[in-house]
Amino acid sequence: MPPSVTSAKDSAPGQATFRFRCIGCGSVNATAAQDFRCSDCGNLLEITDSSWNSRNPTALKTLWRERRILNEAIDLSGVWRFREFLPAPQSEQEIVTLREGNTPLYDLPQSSRVTGVPRLYAKHQGLNPTGSFKDAGMTVAATFARQAGYRWVACASTGNTSASMAAYAARGGMRSLVLVPEGKISWSKLSQALDYGALTCQLRTDFDGCLRLLQELVRQAPVYQLNSINPFRLEGQKTLAFELLEQLDWEPPDHIIVPGGNLGNSSAIGKALLEMRDVGLIPRLPKLSVIQAEGANALVRTVRETQGKRLVSMQPETRATAIRIGNPASWEKAVKVLQATGGACEQVSELEIAQAKAEIGAEGIGCEPASAVTLAGLKKLLQQGFVKPQETVVLVLTGSLLKDPDYTMEFHRGDLFKGTPLEQESAKLNSFRHPPVVLDATLDAVIKTLELAEKSDPARSNE
Ligand code: F0G
Repeated sequence: MPPSVTSAKDSAPGQATFRFRCIGCGSVNATAAQDFRCSDCGNLLEITDSSWNSRNPTALKTLWRERRILNEAIDLSGVWRFREFLPAPQSEQEIVTLREGNTPLYDLPQSSRVTGVPRLYAKHQGLNPTGSFKDAGMTVAATFARQAGYRWVACASTGNTSASMAAYAARGGMRSLVLVPEGKISWSKLSQALDYGALTCQLRTDFDGCLRLLQELVRQAPVYQLNSINPFRLEGQKTLAFELLEQLDWEPPDHIIVPGGNLGNSSAIGKALLEMRDVGLIPRLPKLSVIQAEGANALVRTVRETQGKRLVSMQPETRATAIRIGNPASWEKAVKVLQATGGACEQVSELEIAQAKAEIGAEGIGCEPASAVTLAGLKKLLQQGFVKPQETVVLVLTGSLLKDPDYTMEFHRGDLFKGTPLEQESAKLNSFRHPPVVLDATLDAVIKTLELAEKSDPARSNE
């Protein structure tokens, strides 16, 4: 019988008071089943803690700021710094951390000019220890997995979750099992899992097939599931929003825009916004909008075709492999967040993603294709009048540029859409490409190339 992850209160009186609440029927329990679903109605669980509601918002803001100069591991982590809103482990020494969080909020001057939105920012979660937003959730989930005595943790992944899980498992002295779709994830992410010592299985299926298999596995084997249906993951991912609001001096932006795949991140950010509003940390809710690739648009279709009542799953296809998901596990949580914050759900094309990724790269910060859907989505939401140019907008960049170098190389070499129906149309992106130039190793050749570059693009300035 696998060990169960329990509210610490039951084993150590006076510690955390968190409970698991079903997002469907609302029933509350101290323990969670291995599949993190409600035993009564089968819906997903989330973590709740009544102590969060009795906090003093002004005192919390000061406390969190003061912790930024402290040197304890728990304070250096940009996740555990906000621990008043996280489930508490039995002791601080239990925490498995790689100094996650503390990610920058950048302005985007060039994209601001292109979109006409002067107050446009990017919260770059790709600057986490393993290069994606997953680390913020993984530190919390890995901590509780270790505390519960698990030897094995496991996930299905499009790449980033597996990289992150493998790192935190290694850090916490646990073994990790990774299930990834064969040939459908970037080598760069796969190589991370290998280096961090994961047992890596490339399955001949897609992400949704991997996740289905994992859910069967956790019922039979003593492995702990670290996919984003694990509610501890979402608690950690909430801190992105706490940190963002702190960076904005607690003045809520009008819009936060995130990519949507399995829909854990949008659920987590939404939960954080509601908690912050309920406690009085922020006076009003930003609208949280979710953007998907046209070829992996299950949430968009669910909202448009069933008003969010029934999941419309699909066979996903997109070069933004991180969000190549057709059967998102947390769709109901995401629908609730869209409704609660008044956010929109949009889809963007492969060409729009490629252009937005190049535009973000040209800002000198770079991201992976899945993250770029946010800028592409913003352009659509502006056209529709859902976002107004004078509003403050934050794009959540979820992964580093280095996560998918093949995509970037193919784009700049002009090969990304070769042999696809988009080949001809993709010529309109040529001005965004910066292919490498192969030259003889002479001064003359380099100077000529420099002159040519200056002549062909005189408008490019230093400002
Ligand atoms: N962006 C990146 C870079 C991702 O890796 C993912 C998901 C998402 C966005 C979507 O986030 O699933 O919370 O809606 N990657 C998962 C993985 C599925 O296995 O790495 P979501």
